Amino acid sequence: MDEFFTLDELKEAVAEVRQHTDLVPEVGLILGSGLSALAKSVEGTVELPFNAIPHFPVSTVEGHRGHLVLGTLENKPVIVMQGRAHYYEGYSMAQIGLPVRVMALLGVRTLIVTNAAGGLNMTYRPGEIMIIRDHINLIGMAGLNPLRGPNLSEFGPRFPGMNNAYDPALRQLAKEVAVEAQIVYQQGVYICLAGPSFESPADVRFLRIIGADAVGMSTVPEVITARHSGLRVLGFSGITNTLIGEEGAPPPNHEEVLEAGKTLVPRLETIIRGVLRRL
Ligand code: HPA
Repeated sequence: MDEFFTLDELKEAVAEVRQHTDLVPEVGLILGSGLSALAKSVEGTVELPFNAIPHFPVSTVEGHRGHLVLGTLENKPVIVMQGRAHYYEGYSMAQIGLPVRVMALLGVRTLIVTNAAGGLNMTYRPGEIMIIRDHINLIGMAGLNPLRGPNLSEFGPRFPGMNNAYDPALRQLAKEVAVEAQIVYQQGVYICLAGPSFESPADVRFLRIIGADAVGMSTVPEVITARHSGLRVLGFSGITNTLIGEEGAPPPNHEEVLEAGKTLVPRLETIIRGVLRRL
């Protein structure tokens, strides 16, 4: 498995996409577990399976469709990742970041990322949207960073900052849209674990203590890659389950994650469409 990618390899992926469309996407969207329905609303689409694109990681998880969709949404040229690959599937961190770099090379300047997440904050309820204010890169602290390896200075610096990684103006826009549409939203800190095992009750208590509001197994590597490339980022967690952190509490399961996705999809779609209209 390739651990790192060269600019030439990234350009091979770009060339494949370019064989199918000359659309220059402004906004990239990554749709997480059970949240990929929004891709169906994209107009004038070109749809490419991930496995048709050189070097692309192919998602194997149920609920992740695994297509790259290009077209327009609210009259904005967009590129949508319908499903994503995760570290726990066996990919390297560089592979998880690769689609974001391909998006950047295709012209994307703004990335909107979504994920399904467990609620650590006791006030969160399944079906609620959390606008991501910041993240804790717990797997990064353990050494798993998508920027490990030779720096591609064409994209960005060796040591990129992560202050305001989630663009304050875009977050403000998302809040305004949510208020107008009367959608209850939360705003909080997302923490990324490697997975695929869910958190133990003691893990849950630890994650809460260190300041995380929602936990999942994605997003942070893509956001780091995007910020390295200078993309503006807006992130949403769809809260699919609440984590109690008590020994007797039932563990989360993938079915409830997909089930809550059904409530979350229309809410996320409303907010994302509203944000796109105002960009
Ligand atoms: N933990 C980790 N990832 C998740 C969860 C969870 O409880 N729910 C959805 N994704």
